[in-house]
Amino acid sequence: MKKYNVAILGATGAVGEVMRKVLEERNFPINNIKFLASARSAGKKIQFCGEEYTVEEVKPESFEGVDIALFSAGGSTSKQWAPIAVEKGAVVVDNSSAWRMDENVPLVVPEVNPEDVKWHKGIIANPNCSTIQMVVALYPIHKEKKIKRVIVSTYQAVSGAGARAIKDLEEETKARLEGRFYTPEALPNHIAFNVVPHIDVFLDNLHTKEEMKMVNETRKIMHAPDIKVSPTCVRVPVFNGHSENVVIETEKPITVEEAREILRNAPGVIVEDDPFNKVYPMPIDVDGKDDVFVGRIKKDLAFDNGISMWVVADNLRKGAATNAVQIAELLIKYELV
Ligand code: A2P
Repeated sequence: MKKYNVAILGATGAVGEVMRKVLEERNFPINNIKFLASARSAGKKIQFCGEEYTVEEVKPESFEGVDIALFSAGGSTSKQWAPIAVEKGAVVVDNSSAWRMDENVPLVVPEVNPEDVKWHKGIIANPNCSTIQMVVALYPIHKEKKIKRVIVSTYQAVSGAGARAIKDLEEETKARLEGRFYTPEALPNHIAFNVVPHIDVFLDNLHTKEEMKMVNETRKIMHAPDIKVSPTCVRVPVFNGHSENVVIETEKPITVEEAREILRNAPGVIVEDDPFNKVYPMPIDVDGKDDVFVGRIKKDLAFDNGISMWVVADNLRKGAATNAVQIAELLIKYELV
């Protein structure tokens, strides 16, 4: 079996760390791997497949001979380095928002639009974490019942904002319990014992950029330019695992039983729905798992053809690292590297 030269840019970050784990677990066919970050982390040692590697500062030469470069180092780093990596011959799978809405860049969730990887021109974008878990649950229903409208409220974990935000929740929780005051460094407001309706920056339409990602990326991934999405994105004091309450209105009538059946047969979805026995997905239980978990499936009371459901996934895995590695696996499957 052919093996590939892989690089991870952002290897020391929250997603980069999970990318390493996911590559190991899935036995990704690696010939050679390098771990890249900024000068801050150069020289740091990390373990991979039982061996010790040294983190290197990213340089143009870093991408020479690399087949697949997995990026998770933020938007501006990606804007700067993705074209260089492509020029050196690598295919970039990018986890930032930098390229997602570029019409020359496919935006891919393997359970939804795997074929879109085929028209890549060097960069493939990994969608926003909240969008990924939502479309994995929406798309199978859309195929059968045509979704017209989605109203979604998210309950997003701090890990989605990176390693420093994880530290913020830890430090602020300790501080509050000890009667001290702490100002988060990576989050826009107090997070311990709080709920913050603010993720990413506010835009002129009074939605946040995170919310507009859910609108625009959902349409692009599902090839459904007419779907109306009304999102509210909220940060909650959870370390890892995003939850979403998703209400949909479909064109064709849909029953709770039909929705359950469609989701039970959907790729990447696990239905956990027995509320009278306290069975419903929660972030604590999905931590470390790769699937999207759906529960609380019920008839929505505000729409005639409406269903409401509770969708939970590990945002560092399916929402980021696992989805990126699955895209890399598609590149191999379709012989595009
Ligand atoms: P570094 O450890 O050198 O700062 P997170 O999302 O958890 O904050 O992680 C961001 C990741 O992106 C880290 O690995 C970080 O590396 C990397 N990174 C951030 N800025 C740059 C940059 N300008 N060049 C290269 N890597 C960067």
